[in-house]
Amino acid sequence: MSSEWSPSSWKSRPAKQQVEYDDPAELADALARLARLPPIVTSWEVEKLKKQLAEAGRGERFLLQGGDCSERFTDCTANLIDAKLKVLLMMSAVLVYGSGRPVVRVGRIAGQYAKPRSDPMETINGVTLPSYRGDLVNRVDFTPEGRRPNPANLIEAYSRSAMTINFIRSLLAGGFADIHHPEVWDLSGLGQNAQTDEYHALVAQMRRSVRFLDATLGRPLEELTQTEFYTSHEGLHLDYEEAASERPPLRTGWYDLSTHLPWIGERTRDLGGAHVEFFRGIKNPIGVKVGPSMDPNELVELVSVLNPANEPGRLTLIVRMGSKKVADKLPALVAKIRSTGQVVTWCCDPMHGNTYKTADGTKTRHFDDILAEVTQSFDIHRDAGSVLGGVHFEMTGQNVTEVVGGSCGLTEADLATAYESDVDPRMNYAQSLELAFLVARKLGSMRA
Ligand code: PEP
Ligand code: CO
Repeated sequence: MSSEWSPSSWKSRPAKQQVEYDDPAELADALARLARLPPIVTSWEVEKLKKQLAEAGRGERFLLQGGDCSERFTDCTANLIDAKLKVLLMMSAVLVYGSGRPVVRVGRIAGQYAKPRSDPMETINGVTLPSYRGDLVNRVDFTPEGRRPNPANLIEAYSRSAMTINFIRSLLAGGFADIHHPEVWDLSGLGQNAQTDEYHALVAQMRRSVRFLDATLGRPLEELTQTEFYTSHEGLHLDYEEAASERPPLRTGWYDLSTHLPWIGERTRDLGGAHVEFFRGIKNPIGVKVGPSMDPNELVELVSVLNPANEPGRLTLIVRMGSKKVADKLPALVAKIRSTGQVVTWCCDPMHGNTYKTADGTKTRHFDDILAEVTQSFDIHRDAGSVLGGVHFEMTGQNVTEVVGGSCGLTEADLATAYESDVDPRMNYAQSLELAFLVARKLGSMRA
C-alpha cells in the first residue's frame, strides 16, 4: 500500500457499497457545505477515548458499545435519545459493579445512519428500486422518490447527529448520570421483571457504597468522576467521512470528527479497498469488524496497515463470528496476533453472526446464541492468555420484540407485536439489562 495518504486518496481504490447519485453537482454542493460545518466531536475527546480503549485492551477497563443497528431521522426525539442513554447507563452501572472495572461507554449513536446492503437493488411485486441504504442516503419508503439517493440527507444526518450528541451532553452535564441518583435512569412504563428487581437491588447497594465513598473522601464523588459518553458509527459513506475530516489546530494529522470511533464493516474491510485506505490515515481510534472468512495472516496484514505504529487503543477488532463458529475461528486469530506482538483491543459483537430468518422471513436473533458467543469469547481469550476488552450490542431502550429468548420469554410468534427495526433486530430493554448482568457475572468470575 502506498504511503501517500490524503483524505481523498481512497478514491484511487475500489470502493464497495458507495452510492450512485444522479446529480454530481448536487452531491458536490452538499459535501462542500458539510465540510464548512463545525465538527460534531473534538480531537481532545477522540484522543481521550483512544487512551481508554488502550486500557480496555489490557483489561484495565471494559468497553460497552451499543445502540441501534441503524438510527432513523425520526428517532431524533428527546424521549428516544433519553431511553437509549438510560439503558446504556444502566448496563454500564451493572458492568462496573459486577466487574470492578471502569467502563467506557460508546453508543452506536449520533451518526449511525448508513447501512451496507447485500443487493444494491430491491424488487417488490415486479418493481425494482435502489435498496434502502440508511437515512444518510435515502428513505425506506418503497417509491422512486423515497429510494432516490438524496445529497440533502447528508446535511440532515450531520445536523441530527449534532442535535443528538448535544442533547446527550446536556443530559450528562446536568446530572442525569449522577451516581447518587441511579434511579432516575429507570425506564418507566416497562413493567417489572427479574432484571428490574435485580437492578433495583443493585441500585440500593450502589447508593450505600456511594454514601460510604462520599463520607470517606469528604466530598461528593462526582467531583472526581465525570460520566463520559462517546459516539461511534460505521464509516461506510466515504464522501461523508472525508467531508467531516479536518486537521485540528495544534495537532498533527487528520481526524474524522463526525464521530469518536468510526469502524470499518465486515463487507468493506478488503486490504486493497477504499475503506482501509481512508481509515489508515485518520488519527481516531478505529474499529474493524472481523467475521468468519478472516484468515489469520490477512488479519496480521490488516492490523499492520491500520496500525503501523502499533499504538495502543488505535485499533479495536470487533469480532462477529456467530456462536457456532467462534470456537473454531477465534483461537487462531488470537494466537496469531499474540505471536506478532501487535497491540489491539479485542471486542465481541455477538449480534451479526447470529442473525437468522424465521419461516415467515422475519430477521431475528436468539438471546441464547448472543450469550453463547460472548461467553465462549471470554473463555477463548482467557485460555490464550489474551483479554476480551469489550462487547458490542444492537439494542434499544424500548420494549421492542425483535430478538427471541431471554427471561422475558419472547418467541417467534411474538415478533410481530412490536418489531420496529428496518434493518437488524435489537435486544429490548429487559434483554439488554439481562445480558449486562450475565456479562458482569462472567467478568466478575474471571477476576476471582
Ligand atoms: C452492523 O454493525 O450493523 C453491521 C452491518 O455489521 P457487520 O459489518 O459486522 O456485518
Ligand atoms: Co446491524
